[in-house]
Amino acid sequence: MILLVTGGAGFIGSNFVKHRLENTSDKIIVLDALTYAGVLDNLKSYLNDSNLLVPTSQYDLKKIEKTINQYGVTYNDVKDEVESKRLSSKLREFSPKYINIEDLNEKIEEVLENTRLAFVVGNIIDSTLDEKLMNLSDIVVHFAAESHVDRSIFNADAFVKTDVYGTYSLLEAAKKCEKLNKFIHISTDEVYGQAKEKPFKETDPLNPRNPYSASKAAADRMAYAYYQTYGVPVVIVRPSNNFGPNQYPEKLIPVVTIKALNNEPIPVYGDGKQRRDWLYVEDTAKAINLLIEKGEIGQAYNVAGRNERENMFVVERILEITGKSKDLIKHVKDRPGHDLRYLIDDTKIRGLGFKQDRTFEELFDHTVKWYLKNKNWWEKILREDEEYKEFMEKWYENR
Ligand code: NAD
Ligand code: TYD
Repeated sequence: MILLVTGGAGFIGSNFVKHRLENTSDKIIVLDALTYAGVLDNLKSYLNDSNLLVPTSQYDLKKIEKTINQYGVTYNDVKDEVESKRLSSKLREFSPKYINIEDLNEKIEEVLENTRLAFVVGNIIDSTLDEKLMNLSDIVVHFAAESHVDRSIFNADAFVKTDVYGTYSLLEAAKKCEKLNKFIHISTDEVYGQAKEKPFKETDPLNPRNPYSASKAAADRMAYAYYQTYGVPVVIVRPSNNFGPNQYPEKLIPVVTIKALNNEPIPVYGDGKQRRDWLYVEDTAKAINLLIEKGEIGQAYNVAGRNERENMFVVERILEITGKSKDLIKHVKDRPGHDLRYLIDDTKIRGLGFKQDRTFEELFDHTVKWYLKNKNWWEKILREDEEYKEFMEKWYENR
């Protein structure tokens, strides 16, 4: 089976790709634009001299001649210097192959004869690319998204472009692709909005309250609409907050762990009594595997961790594991429109056989220790990623 995985260099996407490569005989095509959140190191052990592909067009080939001396690389949708510089730095330590878009599918087929992963650097908004890659695939697993609520509060532009329009582009390609068996759309529990006491069921109305969850809700319903209207074989997955290795250091658990290790103040929004339900990233991968096999087309499935904790609990546990003082905690200005609680009922996927094998405590410890042991991974981001530095400064400076 060939899977097309969008967003495969991100946190959940890369963990899913590794889990799938280690536990099945599938071949995988990743399509990832390598935005700030796309980290090639996440898949380093599966990348070699021939399977990292950068599609270019005739027009871009001319553009490459101009820009190559300046930045070293370019690719099909390089539009400005910032994008070009970012890609240049992301690809610097790898050996990408620049392939004319006309020859891309042939090249991917050749790559997949020898290895099980072909990594294509490209944007889901590019419908030509989506169609080409989908024609080679049996299943799509669509993770690619702008994923951070705080960034969406700053500027929702990229969220609408990627999460809404990008999903639409993929669905359009899926509509034209006759051989596709399933289009697994990764949505989120945040589409339901803030929970009170009763966990949301799949049939409950969506009530997103921040620009990230609103763009995800639009994508979720667009996927459903393409099933209803055109028969695209869509299955929608709504997982709760994920945690685990390789989470980009802008989300709660890596932010707190890294700040604790660096003896920096730990920013807790408001009173820290907000609650999240934590799901281990490998369990999300297992849930998706189950839905590839047994998920009913046209249906949505909640995936809960069943590990609801207050943010303060999470923060204090990280301080215990890292051996740091609670004095580092700094209550800062709350996130505007903060959803105090997410809570979902996942009886439906449990009915298909979904279960977790390890306890939250065990997995939480393992995760924090992963960041302790893999300082190189996050230090490189903190040191080299200009977009990261800029966002962290802007977001946290006046809190
Ligand atoms: P992430 O931000 O770590 O990774 C996103 C990936 O998508 C990156 O590799 C990035 O380069 C890529 N990408 C972004 N825009 C793109 C574009 N236009 N074209 C191609 N690639 C693009 O995100 P994550 O935390 O791994 O989340 C993955 C998915 O799961 C998202 O759809 C998110 O909404 C959903 N989700 C996440 C969580 C969570 O707790 N992290 C929970 C529920 C659902
Ligand atoms: P986050 O990891 O951004 O996930 P989401 O908002 O999508 O659930 O945040 C998890 C919780 O932690 C949320 O209630 C906001 C809070 N939080 C902080 O208190 N401080 C921080 O620095 C961050 C990043 C999050």
